[in-house]
Amino acid sequence: MTVEIKDKVYIDGKWCSSEKTFGVFNPLDGSQIGLLPNCGPLETEAAIYSSERAFLKWKNLTAFQRARFLRGIYELVVSQIDALAEILTREQGKPLSQARGEILYGASYLQWYAEEAKRIYGEVLPARKPEQRIMVTREPLGVTAAITPWNFPHAMIIRKMAAALAAGCTMVVKPASETPFSALAIAALCEQAKLPAGVFNVITGDPEPIAQALMKSKAVRKISFTGSSEVGRLLMRQSAETLKKLTLELGGNAPFIVFEDADIEKAVDEAIFGKFRNSGQTCICINRFLLHEKISQPFAALFSERCKKLKTADGMAPDSDLGPLISAKALQKIRNLVKDASSKGAEIILGSVPDEDELLMSPLILQGVRPEMQIYSNEIFGPVACLSTFRDEEQALKMANDTEYGLAAYFFTKDLSRVHRVRDALEFGMIGINSTLISAAEIPFGGIKQSGFGREGGRYGIDDYVYTKYSCLEVS
Ligand code: SIN
Repeated sequence: MTVEIKDKVYIDGKWCSSEKTFGVFNPLDGSQIGLLPNCGPLETEAAIYSSERAFLKWKNLTAFQRARFLRGIYELVVSQIDALAEILTREQGKPLSQARGEILYGASYLQWYAEEAKRIYGEVLPARKPEQRIMVTREPLGVTAAITPWNFPHAMIIRKMAAALAAGCTMVVKPASETPFSALAIAALCEQAKLPAGVFNVITGDPEPIAQALMKSKAVRKISFTGSSEVGRLLMRQSAETLKKLTLELGGNAPFIVFEDADIEKAVDEAIFGKFRNSGQTCICINRFLLHEKISQPFAALFSERCKKLKTADGMAPDSDLGPLISAKALQKIRNLVKDASSKGAEIILGSVPDEDELLMSPLILQGVRPEMQIYSNEIFGPVACLSTFRDEEQALKMANDTEYGLAAYFFTKDLSRVHRVRDALEFGMIGINSTLISAAEIPFGGIKQSGFGREGGRYGIDDYVYTKYSCLEVS
Protein backbone atom coordinates (compact mmCIF):
# COMPACT_ATOMS: atom_id res chain seq x y z
CA MET A 1 0.00 0.00 0.00
CA THR A 2 1.65 3.26 -1.12
CA VAL A 3 1.92 5.88 1.58
CA GLU A 4 -0.03 9.05 0.80
CA ILE A 5 -0.48 12.57 2.12
CA LYS A 6 -2.79 12.30 5.14
CA ASP A 7 -5.41 14.77 6.35
CA LYS A 8 -5.84 13.34 9.85
CA VAL A 9 -3.70 12.81 12.93
CA TYR A 10 -2.79 9.41 14.36
CA ILE A 11 -3.94 8.78 17.94
CA ASP A 12 -4.32 5.37 19.56
CA GLY A 13 -3.96 3.59 16.23
CA LYS A 14 -6.81 5.60 14.65
CA TRP A 15 -6.88 8.43 12.13
CA CYS A 16 -8.67 11.37 13.77
CA SER A 17 -9.89 14.68 12.41
CA SER A 18 -10.75 17.91 14.16
CA GLU A 19 -13.00 20.88 13.47
CA LYS A 20 -10.08 23.28 13.58
CA THR A 21 -7.55 22.90 10.82
CA PHE A 22 -4.44 24.61 9.49
CA GLY A 23 -2.91 24.68 6.01
CA VAL A 24 0.48 23.30 5.02
CA PHE A 25 2.20 24.96 2.07
CA ASN A 26 4.88 24.09 -0.42
CA PRO A 27 7.79 26.48 0.31
CA LEU A 28 8.65 26.74 -3.38
CA ASP A 29 5.44 28.29 -4.68
CA GLY A 30 3.22 28.73 -1.63
CA SER A 31 0.62 26.30 -2.97
CA GLN A 32 -1.41 24.50 -0.33
CA ILE A 33 -0.47 20.83 0.05
CA GLY A 34 -3.26 20.03 2.47
CA LEU A 35 -5.18 20.81 5.64
CA LEU A 36 -4.52 19.11 8.97
CA PRO A 37 -6.14 19.06 12.41
CA ASN A 38 -5.08 21.94 14.60
CA CYS A 39 -4.91 19.87 17.78
CA GLY A 40 -4.98 21.35 21.25
CA PRO A 41 -4.79 20.05 24.83
CA LEU A 42 -7.69 17.60 24.37
CA GLU A 43 -6.10 15.68 21.51
CA THR A 44 -2.70 15.87 23.20
CA GLU A 45 -4.11 14.36 26.38
CA ALA A 46 -5.84 11.64 24.35
CA ALA A 47 -2.53 10.79 22.70
CA ILE A 48 -0.72 10.73 26.06
CA TYR A 49 -3.40 8.51 27.57
CA SER A 50 -3.23 6.09 24.66
CA SER A 51 0.55 6.03 24.94
CA GLU A 52 0.28 5.35 28.67
CA ARG A 53 -1.96 2.33 28.13
CA ALA A 54 0.17 1.04 25.28
CA PHE A 55 3.29 1.31 27.43
CA LEU A 56 1.99 -1.30 29.89
CA LYS A 57 2.04 -3.91 27.14
CA TRP A 58 4.90 -2.62 24.98
CA LYS A 59 7.43 -2.63 27.82
CA ASN A 60 6.59 -6.26 28.56
CA LEU A 61 7.25 -7.50 25.05
CA THR A 62 10.61 -9.15 24.72
CA ALA A 63 13.37 -7.15 23.10
CA PHE A 64 13.18 -9.65 20.24
CA GLN A 65 9.50 -8.88 19.69
CA ARG A 66 10.10 -5.12 19.74
CA ALA A 67 13.00 -5.60 17.35
CA ARG A 68 10.73 -7.38 14.88
CA PHE A 69 8.35 -4.40 14.80
CA LEU A 70 11.23 -1.97 14.22
CA ARG A 71 12.62 -4.18 11.49
CA GLY A 72 9.15 -4.33 9.90
CA ILE A 73 8.85 -0.52 9.88
CA TYR A 74 12.39 -0.31 8.45
CA GLU A 75 11.45 -2.57 5.56
CA LEU A 76 8.33 -0.55 4.82
CA VAL A 77 10.26 2.74 4.90
CA VAL A 78 12.83 1.40 2.44
CA SER A 79 10.19 -0.06 0.16
CA GLN A 80 8.26 3.25 0.11
CA ILE A 81 11.28 5.48 -0.38
CA ASP A 82 9.96 7.16 -3.55
CA ALA A 83 6.61 8.15 -2.04
CA LEU A 84 8.21 9.28 1.23
CA ALA A 85 10.86 11.34 -0.57
CA GLU A 86 8.25 13.06 -2.69
CA ILE A 87 6.16 14.00 0.36
CA LEU A 88 9.29 15.31 2.04
CA THR A 89 10.40 17.44 -0.91
CA ARG A 90 6.92 18.86 -1.39
CA GLU A 91 6.61 20.07 2.17
CA GLN A 92 10.23 20.89 2.97
CA GLY A 93 11.75 21.82 -0.39
CA LYS A 94 15.04 19.90 -0.35
CA PRO A 95 16.13 18.23 -3.60
CA LEU A 96 14.60 14.83 -4.18
CA SER A 97 18.02 13.13 -4.12
CA GLN A 98 18.64 14.59 -0.64
CA ALA A 99 15.13 13.63 0.45
CA ARG A 100 15.87 10.04 -0.57
CA GLY A 101 19.15 10.30 1.36
CA GLU A 102 17.22 11.47 4.41
CA ILE A 103 14.75 8.58 4.17
CA LEU A 104 17.61 6.06 4.07
CA TYR A 105 19.38 7.90 6.88
CA GLY A 106 16.18 7.68 8.97
CA ALA A 107 15.72 4.04 8.04
CA SER A 108 19.25 3.28 9.22
CA TYR A 109 18.16 4.22 12.78
CA LEU A 110 15.31 1.70 12.61
CA GLN A 111 17.75 -0.95 11.40
CA TRP A 112 20.30 -0.08 14.07
CA TYR A 113 17.83 0.04 16.96
CA ALA A 114 16.13 -3.17 15.88
CA GLU A 115 19.52 -4.73 16.68
CA GLU A 116 20.33 -2.60 19.70
CA ALA A 117 16.99 -3.44 21.37
CA LYS A 118 18.52 -6.85 22.12
CA ARG A 119 21.62 -5.36 23.75
CA ILE A 120 20.13 -3.25 26.51
CA TYR A 121 22.15 -5.18 29.04
CA GLY A 122 22.17 -4.95 32.81
CA GLU A 123 24.82 -6.04 35.32
CA VAL A 124 25.13 -8.29 38.35
CA LEU A 125 27.45 -6.66 40.89
CA PRO A 126 29.57 -8.50 43.49
CA ALA A 127 27.51 -8.57 46.71
CA ARG A 128 28.66 -8.23 50.33
CA LYS A 129 26.77 -11.33 51.50
CA PRO A 130 26.88 -14.76 49.83
CA GLU A 131 23.08 -15.06 49.78
CA GLN A 132 22.67 -11.73 47.97
CA ARG A 133 22.54 -10.87 44.28
CA ILE A 134 22.88 -7.22 43.33
CA MET A 135 21.21 -6.58 39.98
CA VAL A 136 21.28 -3.43 37.91
CA THR A 137 18.86 -3.24 35.00
CA ARG A 138 17.96 -0.53 32.49
CA GLU A 139 14.23 0.05 32.39
CA PRO A 140 12.11 2.03 29.93
CA LEU A 141 11.07 5.49 31.15
CA GLY A 142 7.44 5.26 30.01
CA VAL A 143 5.58 7.70 27.79
CA THR A 144 7.97 9.98 25.92
CA ALA A 145 7.31 12.92 23.63
CA ALA A 146 9.25 14.26 20.67
CA ILE A 147 9.02 17.78 19.34
CA THR A 148 10.70 17.75 15.97
CA PRO A 149 11.99 20.30 13.44
CA TRP A 150 11.20 21.06 9.81
CA ASN A 151 14.72 20.68 8.44
CA PHE A 152 14.80 16.86 8.63
CA PRO A 153 11.09 16.01 8.94
CA HIS A 154 11.63 12.28 8.54
CA ALA A 155 15.02 11.45 10.06
CA MET A 156 14.68 13.54 13.22
CA ILE A 157 11.49 11.67 14.14
CA ILE A 158 12.84 8.22 13.40
CA ARG A 159 16.09 8.95 15.24
CA LYS A 160 14.03 9.58 18.38
CA MET A 161 11.26 7.00 17.99
CA ALA A 162 13.53 4.09 17.04
CA ALA A 163 15.59 4.50 20.23
CA ALA A 164 12.49 5.06 22.36
CA LEU A 165 10.61 2.03 21.05
CA ALA A 166 13.70 -0.19 21.24
CA ALA A 167 14.09 0.76 24.91
CA GLY A 168 10.44 -0.15 25.58
CA CYS A 169 9.03 3.40 25.72
CA THR A 170 6.03 4.69 23.79
CA MET A 171 5.91 8.06 22.06
CA VAL A 172 3.79 11.07 21.16
CA VAL A 173 5.25 13.14 18.33
CA LYS A 174 4.53 16.78 17.60
CA PRO A 175 6.15 17.54 14.24
CA ALA A 176 6.92 21.04 12.98
CA SER A 177 3.82 22.69 11.52
CA GLU A 178 5.71 23.39 8.28
CA THR A 179 6.39 19.68 7.64
CA PRO A 180 3.84 17.40 9.33
CA PHE A 181 3.13 15.09 6.39
CA SER A 182 6.38 13.15 6.71
CA ALA A 183 5.51 12.45 10.36
CA LEU A 184 2.06 11.20 9.41
CA ALA A 185 3.59 9.07 6.65
CA ILE A 186 5.74 7.40 9.31
CA ALA A 187 2.58 6.80 11.37
CA ALA A 188 0.92 5.23 8.31
CA LEU A 189 3.87 2.84 7.99
CA CYS A 190 3.66 1.99 11.70
CA GLU A 191 0.01 1.12 11.09
CA GLN A 192 0.98 -1.05 8.10
CA ALA A 193 3.62 -2.74 10.27
CA LYS A 194 0.83 -3.48 12.81
CA LEU A 195 2.60 -1.63 15.60
CA PRO A 196 0.23 -1.87 18.59
CA ALA A 197 -2.14 1.10 18.94
CA GLY A 198 -0.79 3.92 21.10
CA VAL A 199 2.88 2.99 20.85
CA PHE A 200 3.43 5.78 18.32
CA ASN A 201 1.07 8.78 18.04
CA VAL A 202 1.34 11.90 15.89
CA ILE A 203 -0.52 15.13 16.65
CA THR A 204 -0.32 18.32 14.62
CA GLY A 205 -1.16 21.96 15.25
CA ASP A 206 0.04 25.11 16.98
CA PRO A 207 3.14 24.29 19.01
CA GLU A 208 2.37 26.23 22.21
CA PRO A 209 -0.84 24.53 23.43
CA ILE A 210 0.43 21.08 22.46
CA ALA A 211 3.82 21.62 24.07
CA GLN A 212 2.18 22.99 27.22
CA ALA A 213 -0.09 19.95 27.53
CA LEU A 214 2.91 17.65 27.05
CA MET A 215 5.00 19.55 29.58
CA LYS A 216 2.20 19.63 32.17
CA SER A 217 1.52 15.92 32.00
CA LYS A 218 3.02 13.78 34.76
CA ALA A 219 2.61 10.74 32.53
CA VAL A 220 5.12 12.11 30.02
CA ARG A 221 8.47 11.15 31.51
CA LYS A 222 10.72 12.51 28.85
CA ILE A 223 10.86 15.11 26.08
CA SER A 224 13.25 14.95 23.17
CA PHE A 225 13.47 18.23 21.30
CA THR A 226 15.43 19.30 18.25
CA GLY A 227 15.24 22.99 17.46
CA SER A 228 16.41 26.40 18.64
CA SER A 229 18.30 27.02 21.88
CA GLU A 230 15.66 29.58 22.85
CA VAL A 231 12.83 27.02 22.70
CA GLY A 232 15.10 24.42 24.34
CA ARG A 233 15.58 26.72 27.33
CA LEU A 234 11.82 27.33 27.53
CA LEU A 235 11.08 23.59 27.51
CA MET A 236 13.67 23.05 30.21
CA ARG A 237 12.01 25.65 32.42
CA GLN A 238 8.57 24.14 31.76
CA SER A 239 9.80 20.61 32.48
CA ALA A 240 10.93 21.59 35.98
CA GLU A 241 7.44 21.21 37.43
CA THR A 242 7.15 17.54 36.48
CA LEU A 243 10.91 16.79 36.49
CA LYS A 244 11.03 15.28 33.02
CA LYS A 245 14.14 13.86 31.53
CA LEU A 246 15.25 15.94 28.54
CA THR A 247 17.25 15.47 25.39
CA LEU A 248 17.91 18.80 23.73
CA GLU A 249 19.55 19.00 20.34
CA LEU A 250 19.76 22.73 19.78
CA GLY A 251 21.50 25.32 17.63
CA GLY A 252 25.04 25.25 16.35
CA ASN A 253 27.78 27.54 15.04
CA ALA A 254 30.15 25.04 13.50
CA PRO A 255 33.67 26.18 12.69
CA PHE A 256 35.49 24.62 9.73
CA ILE A 257 39.23 25.11 10.23
CA VAL A 258 41.62 24.60 7.33
CA PHE A 259 45.25 24.48 8.42
CA GLU A 260 48.11 25.37 6.09
CA ASP A 261 49.11 21.69 5.66
CA ALA A 262 45.60 20.48 4.69
CA ASP A 263 44.64 18.85 1.42
CA ILE A 264 42.82 21.85 -0.05
CA GLU A 265 40.90 19.95 -2.70
CA LYS A 266 39.60 17.50 -0.13
CA ALA A 267 38.67 20.37 2.21
CA VAL A 268 36.73 22.07 -0.60
CA ASP A 269 34.89 18.85 -1.47
CA GLU A 270 33.90 18.39 2.15
CA ALA A 271 32.96 22.07 2.48
CA ILE A 272 30.43 21.78 -0.35
CA PHE A 273 28.59 19.00 1.49
CA GLY A 274 29.09 20.50 4.95
CA LYS A 275 27.81 23.93 3.93
CA PHE A 276 25.12 23.37 1.32
CA ARG A 277 23.35 20.18 2.37
CA ASN A 278 19.68 21.10 2.74
CA SER A 279 20.54 24.64 1.51
CA GLY A 280 22.54 25.20 4.68
CA GLN A 281 19.53 24.52 6.91
CA THR A 282 21.20 21.98 9.15
CA CYS A 283 22.24 22.32 12.80
CA ILE A 284 25.68 20.93 12.00
CA CYS A 285 26.19 23.03 8.85
CA ILE A 286 29.43 24.96 8.61
CA ASN A 287 28.76 28.43 9.97
CA ARG A 288 32.30 29.84 10.02
CA PHE A 289 35.17 29.02 7.67
CA LEU A 290 38.44 29.64 9.53
CA LEU A 291 41.27 29.55 6.98
CA HIS A 292 45.00 29.77 7.59
CA GLU A 293 46.18 33.02 5.99
CA LYS A 294 48.62 31.15 3.70
CA ILE A 295 45.90 29.05 2.05
CA SER A 296 42.86 31.31 2.33
CA GLN A 297 43.11 32.65 -1.24
CA PRO A 298 43.58 29.28 -3.03
CA PHE A 299 40.80 27.81 -0.85
CA ALA A 300 38.43 30.70 -1.62
CA ALA A 301 39.16 30.50 -5.36
CA LEU A 302 38.58 26.75 -5.61
CA PHE A 303 35.55 26.88 -3.32
CA SER A 304 33.96 29.68 -5.42
CA GLU A 305 34.52 27.69 -8.61
CA ARG A 306 32.79 24.68 -7.07
CA CYS A 307 29.92 26.79 -5.70
CA LYS A 308 29.26 28.26 -9.17
CA LYS A 309 28.49 24.76 -10.42
CA LEU A 310 25.75 24.16 -7.83
CA LYS A 311 22.25 24.45 -9.21
CA THR A 312 19.53 26.11 -7.18
CA ALA A 313 16.12 24.91 -8.36
CA ASP A 314 12.83 23.28 -7.45
CA GLY A 315 13.67 20.24 -5.35
CA MET A 316 11.64 18.11 -7.75
CA ALA A 317 14.02 18.97 -10.64
CA PRO A 318 16.43 16.05 -11.11
CA ASP A 319 19.56 18.24 -11.18
CA SER A 320 18.70 20.50 -8.22
CA ASP A 321 21.47 20.86 -5.61
CA LEU A 322 19.78 23.51 -3.48
CA GLY A 323 16.02 23.77 -3.05
CA PRO A 324 14.07 26.72 -1.64
CA LEU A 325 14.56 28.05 1.88
CA ILE A 326 11.78 27.08 4.24
CA SER A 327 10.14 30.52 4.57
CA ALA A 328 10.28 34.24 3.90
CA LYS A 329 11.09 34.71 7.61
CA ALA A 330 14.18 32.50 7.27
CA LEU A 331 15.25 34.45 4.20
CA GLN A 332 14.77 37.77 5.97
CA LYS A 333 17.05 36.66 8.79
CA ILE A 334 19.76 35.74 6.26
CA ARG A 335 19.33 39.03 4.38
CA ASN A 336 19.76 40.97 7.62
CA LEU A 337 22.87 39.02 8.62
CA VAL A 338 24.49 39.54 5.21
CA LYS A 339 23.61 43.24 5.18
CA ASP A 340 25.07 43.71 8.65
CA ALA A 341 28.30 41.92 7.64
CA SER A 342 28.59 43.95 4.42
CA SER A 343 28.03 47.22 6.26
CA LYS A 344 30.89 46.28 8.62
CA GLY A 345 33.35 45.53 5.82
CA ALA A 346 32.80 41.92 4.67
CA GLU A 347 33.04 41.50 0.90
CA ILE A 348 30.66 39.39 -1.18
CA ILE A 349 32.89 37.40 -3.54
CA LEU A 350 30.15 35.17 -4.95
CA GLY A 351 26.39 35.52 -5.24
CA SER A 352 24.14 38.33 -4.12
CA VAL A 353 21.56 39.11 -1.47
CA PRO A 354 18.29 37.67 -2.81
CA ASP A 355 15.12 39.72 -3.14
CA GLU A 356 12.69 39.55 -0.25
CA ASP A 357 10.51 36.89 -1.84
CA GLU A 358 13.22 34.84 -3.59
CA LEU A 359 13.38 31.65 -1.53
CA LEU A 360 15.54 29.93 -4.15
CA MET A 361 18.80 31.27 -2.83
CA SER A 362 22.12 30.41 -4.51
CA PRO A 363 25.41 30.12 -2.62
CA LEU A 364 26.74 33.41 -1.35
CA ILE A 365 30.34 33.74 -0.13
CA LEU A 366 31.40 36.50 2.25
CA GLN A 367 35.10 37.18 2.73
CA GLY A 368 36.69 39.09 5.60
CA VAL A 369 34.09 38.09 8.20
CA ARG A 370 35.04 39.24 11.70
CA PRO A 371 33.70 38.56 15.22
CA GLU A 372 31.92 41.92 15.53
CA MET A 373 29.61 40.97 12.64
CA GLN A 374 26.33 39.35 13.71
CA ILE A 375 26.76 36.56 11.19
CA TYR A 376 29.87 35.33 13.02
CA SER A 377 27.99 34.40 16.20
CA ASN A 378 24.48 33.65 14.85
CA GLU A 379 23.36 30.42 13.29
CA ILE A 380 22.86 31.34 9.61
CA PHE A 381 20.67 28.43 8.48
CA GLY A 382 21.14 29.25 4.81
CA PRO A 383 23.61 28.93 1.92
CA VAL A 384 25.98 31.69 3.05
CA ALA A 385 29.65 30.82 3.55
CA CYS A 386 31.58 33.17 5.84
CA LEU A 387 35.35 33.20 5.36
CA SER A 388 37.74 34.43 8.05
CA THR A 389 41.49 33.96 8.39
CA PHE A 390 43.84 33.03 11.24
CA ARG A 391 47.60 33.27 11.83
CA ASP A 392 48.39 30.16 13.84
CA GLU A 393 46.88 27.17 15.60
CA GLU A 394 46.42 28.99 18.89
CA GLN A 395 44.39 31.73 17.24
CA ALA A 396 42.35 29.19 15.22
CA LEU A 397 41.36 27.34 18.40
CA LYS A 398 40.48 30.54 20.19
CA MET A 399 38.27 31.61 17.30
CA ALA A 400 36.65 28.19 16.94
CA ASN A 401 35.73 27.95 20.63
CA ASP A 402 34.59 31.57 20.80
CA THR A 403 30.89 30.68 20.55
CA GLU A 404 28.09 29.92 22.96
CA TYR A 405 27.31 26.80 20.91
CA GLY A 406 29.08 23.45 21.01
CA LEU A 407 27.47 21.09 18.53
CA ALA A 408 29.84 20.22 15.64
CA ALA A 409 33.29 21.40 14.53
CA TYR A 410 35.45 20.39 11.58
CA PHE A 411 39.15 20.72 10.87
CA PHE A 412 41.51 19.77 8.09
CA THR A 413 45.17 18.88 8.50
CA LYS A 414 47.61 16.14 7.54
CA ASP A 415 49.66 16.55 10.73
CA LEU A 416 48.87 13.74 13.16
CA SER A 417 50.19 15.50 16.26
CA ARG A 418 47.99 18.48 15.38
CA VAL A 419 45.00 16.14 15.01
CA HIS A 420 45.32 15.16 18.67
CA ARG A 421 46.00 18.67 19.98
CA VAL A 422 43.14 20.30 18.08
CA ARG A 423 40.67 17.49 18.74
CA ASP A 424 41.41 17.71 22.46
CA ALA A 425 41.05 21.49 22.54
CA LEU A 426 37.80 21.89 20.59
CA GLU A 427 34.78 22.34 22.86
CA PHE A 428 32.14 20.59 20.75
CA GLY A 429 30.13 17.38 21.00
CA MET A 430 31.05 16.18 17.50
CA ILE A 431 34.28 16.66 15.59
CA GLY A 432 34.88 15.94 11.90
CA ILE A 433 38.57 15.55 11.09
CA ASN A 434 39.18 15.85 7.34
CA SER A 435 35.50 15.07 6.90
CA THR A 436 32.09 16.71 7.19
CA LEU A 437 30.08 13.54 6.67
CA ILE A 438 29.77 12.78 10.37
CA SER A 439 26.13 11.74 10.88
CA ALA A 440 25.24 8.05 11.18
CA ALA A 441 22.87 5.85 13.18
CA GLU A 442 25.66 4.40 15.32
CA ILE A 443 27.24 7.65 16.51
CA PRO A 444 26.32 9.80 19.54
CA PHE A 445 24.75 12.88 17.96
CA GLY A 446 24.57 15.88 20.29
CA GLY A 447 26.27 18.92 21.69
CA ILE A 448 27.38 20.85 24.75
CA LYS A 449 26.91 24.44 25.98
CA GLN A 450 23.92 26.17 24.34
CA SER A 451 23.69 23.32 21.82
CA GLY A 452 22.01 21.23 24.50
CA PHE A 453 22.63 17.83 26.04
CA GLY A 454 21.78 14.17 25.71
CA ARG A 455 22.79 12.01 22.78
CA GLU A 456 20.85 10.47 19.92
CA GLY A 457 22.05 7.46 18.00
CA GLY A 458 23.98 4.30 18.73
CA ARG A 459 24.06 2.69 22.14
CA TYR A 460 24.32 6.17 23.68
CA GLY A 461 20.84 7.02 22.36
CA ILE A 462 19.29 4.27 24.49
CA ASP A 463 20.56 5.91 27.70
CA ASP A 464 18.18 8.82 27.13
CA TYR A 465 15.12 6.49 27.23
CA VAL A 466 15.96 4.28 30.22
CA TYR A 467 16.47 4.65 33.93
CA THR A 468 18.76 2.55 36.06
CA LYS A 469 17.01 0.17 38.45
CA TYR A 470 19.01 -1.46 41.19
CA SER A 471 17.62 -4.52 42.99
CA CYS A 472 19.06 -6.37 45.95
CA LEU A 473 17.88 -9.97 46.08
CA GLU A 474 18.48 -12.07 49.17
CA VAL A 475 17.70 -15.78 49.16
CA SER A 476 19.02 -17.80 52.08
C1 SIN B 1 20.26 18.42 12.35
O1 SIN B 1 20.30 19.40 11.61
O2 SIN B 1 20.03 18.55 13.54
C2 SIN B 1 20.44 17.02 11.85
C3 SIN B 1 21.56 16.85 10.96
C4 SIN B 1 22.01 15.43 10.86
O3 SIN B 1 21.49 14.52 11.52
O4 SIN B 1 22.96 15.21 10.10
